[in-house]
Amino acid sequence: MAIKIAVANQKGGVGKTTTAVNLADALKHFNYKVLFIDLDPQHNSTSTYGAVIEDENTIVDVLKKDCTAKEAIQETPLGDIIAGDDLLSTEESYFNSQKARERILRTQLKTVEDDYDFIVMDTPPNLGIYMVNALTAADGCIIPIKAEQYAIDGLGLLIQTVNEVIELLNEDLRIYGVLLTCYDARNGLDVGIKEALPEVGNQKGFKTFNTQIRVSQDVKKSQAIRDSIDDEGNVVVSNRSLFDNFKGSNAAVDYVNFTKEVLEVING
Ligand SMILES: Nc1ncnc2c1ncn2[C@@H]1O[C@H](COP(=O)(O)OP(=O)(O)O)[C@@H](O)[C@H]1O
Ligand SMILES: [Mg+2]
Repeated sequence: MAIKIAVANQKGGVGKTTTAVNLADALKHFNYKVLFIDLDPQHNSTSTYGAVIEDENTIVDVLKKDCTAKEAIQETPLGDIIAGDDLLSTEESYFNSQKARERILRTQLKTVEDDYDFIVMDTPPNLGIYMVNALTAADGCIIPIKAEQYAIDGLGLLIQTVNEVIELLNEDLRIYGVLLTCYDARNGLDVGIKEALPEVGNQKGFKTFNTQIRVSQDVKKSQAIRDSIDDEGNVVVSNRSLFDNFKGSNAAVDYVNFTKEVLEVING
């Protein structure tokens, strides 16, 4: 059965999407079968995967039970994905009025979890219904943060939400760890936060990953959309893997080491 991982933080711009996409990609390079699920109305990961939203089943159709999870999977050069959808934002009040609304995704994933080793979920920048659905479906969560005081301050609220989900909805949920992203060792503030994090973790009950993801322009390059059109007018989606296109880059090396740590946390 697939191990389900939610990448979560209620703050935007902390590296959730980048971490989710590259964790999934690194697991694929380790020969695991991976399904990606995009629960963010901004659907940045869906764009990076080159997946389609119009005229295809998306996560909204899965959550509305208009289709099965299997029927929403798209195969792309970066891997299998259930696409995110702008409609997630307009449908939020609909989902909020449903019975057992927190468990919809967990239930819907049952039909695909035997087909994969890992299911990686990207979540929106708030503590709403979609993040709670991801946490309720997950075995573990990973919390990316940038080296800023506000990011550390915001951790308390997120950990509290995770603990509420553990208490009320999913007693098996674990916090795999907090991951420092966009790390710059030449910046004193970044170093200070890196050194302070393990102690904050001791107080609040989380582990900090030993690996930090260094800041690297190659991350942005790998996320730039580079579709081309072939002679017959078809859109050719290019391979957007950081590992395939920028193998030696700091961020690629760091994401591989981080992924090895995730596997150790899961297996250890
Ligand atoms: N290691 C990194 N080096 C450089 N830029 C990064 C790195 N990680 C993320 N970014 C950039 O930071 C921005 C926010 O990252 P993103 O993954 O979209 O965060 P979130 O999903 O939490 O909003 C994006 O523009 C992304 O390209
Ligand atoms: Mg994002």
